[in-house]
Amino acid sequence: MNVDGKPERTIRVAADGAGVEIIDQTQLPFAFVRRRLGNLEETAEAISAMRVRGAPLIGVAAAYGLALAMRDDPSEAGVSAACQRLMATRPTAVNLRWALGRVRASVRGLPEGERAQRAWARAGELADADVVTCRALAEHGLRLLEKRAAERRDGGPLQVLTHCNAGWLATVDWGTALAPLYLAHDSGLPVHVWVDETRPRNQGASLTAWELAQHGVPHTLVADNAGGHLMQRGQVDCCLVGTDRTTAAGDVCNKIGTYLKALAARDNGVPFYAAVPSASIDWSIGCAGDVPIEERDADELTRVAGRSADGRMMEVSLVPDGTRVANPAFDVTPARLVSALITERGVCDASPEGLERLFPAQAR
Ligand code: MRU
Repeated sequence: MNVDGKPERTIRVAADGAGVEIIDQTQLPFAFVRRRLGNLEETAEAISAMRVRGAPLIGVAAAYGLALAMRDDPSEAGVSAACQRLMATRPTAVNLRWALGRVRASVRGLPEGERAQRAWARAGELADADVVTCRALAEHGLRLLEKRAAERRDGGPLQVLTHCNAGWLATVDWGTALAPLYLAHDSGLPVHVWVDETRPRNQGASLTAWELAQHGVPHTLVADNAGGHLMQRGQVDCCLVGTDRTTAAGDVCNKIGTYLKALAARDNGVPFYAAVPSASIDWSIGCAGDVPIEERDADELTRVAGRSADGRMMEVSLVPDGTRVANPAFDVTPARLVSALITERGVCDASPEGLERLFPAQAR
């Protein structure tokens, strides 16, 4: 997608081929800064600190991180240790395990001297494949949005509520939940996006609002608590969110607060869609309670960073000293509250049968 009119991807190979360059998302929306990752540790730090984030991008970044690790130590023990290090960075996004598995499989049986090069090529293939997947998902999502728009009587823009950031910043390009919205906007279907701020990390306020503005998609930022009210007033035609891990039963794990939106949507007869690239499906989990939920640092709730009136970046405290904090980063929306899953192979019911129809080999 474009930044200041110039096409960008969230991760790219550095000119010297000795590392990758990411967009440091912790600097957005105030600065667009590229950061170089040249080894395993730098990659692991970037994922843990959420310089790169979003399940598909975490997967691709980890794939490059593993390839970089093999340049230093291509032995079996070295590869295992690197996988363990990367797996420990973000526990919920299943794309991480998926991508590491693919890179590892690509070097199996190869002499140590050939591994790093093969792994690097495989990471590049995964990055390119992510773009193709998101673009295909966008097409299927667009069909759904067009149907919904045709049901509107007043001819006004389709009103879509999204939570967190599932745009191109969360993938290599295009995004998952935002991809159909970009395509709708580009093809002349009027859309307006309600952007949940997404406390505590504010991915909606700082990332989704920024990337929609860069692409010229009309949007309005709302506090996380406003969604139910908007739905009650008939101001939301559908909800469209991403996922970090979807179970084989169609339960959708996504950023904390997603479940509350799904409850409000059901109460108000608003369709609730999840954009689910197949790499985000955990075929080994059939039960929502088995999804590992990342617990993040208390500072994310107790402190907030922003830009002061005179342009300085600053961080301030929000709560009484010593306040006890719980910070679960994700929740699981049960399949029964999900109207449909949008995948790169088409749209299906959020059910084992629905997923099996599109992905028979994986579902078995
Ligand atoms: O913690 P994050 O910012 O990595 O989580 C990302 C999300 O939860 C997004 O909502 C998203 O849909 C998953 S990535 C497309």
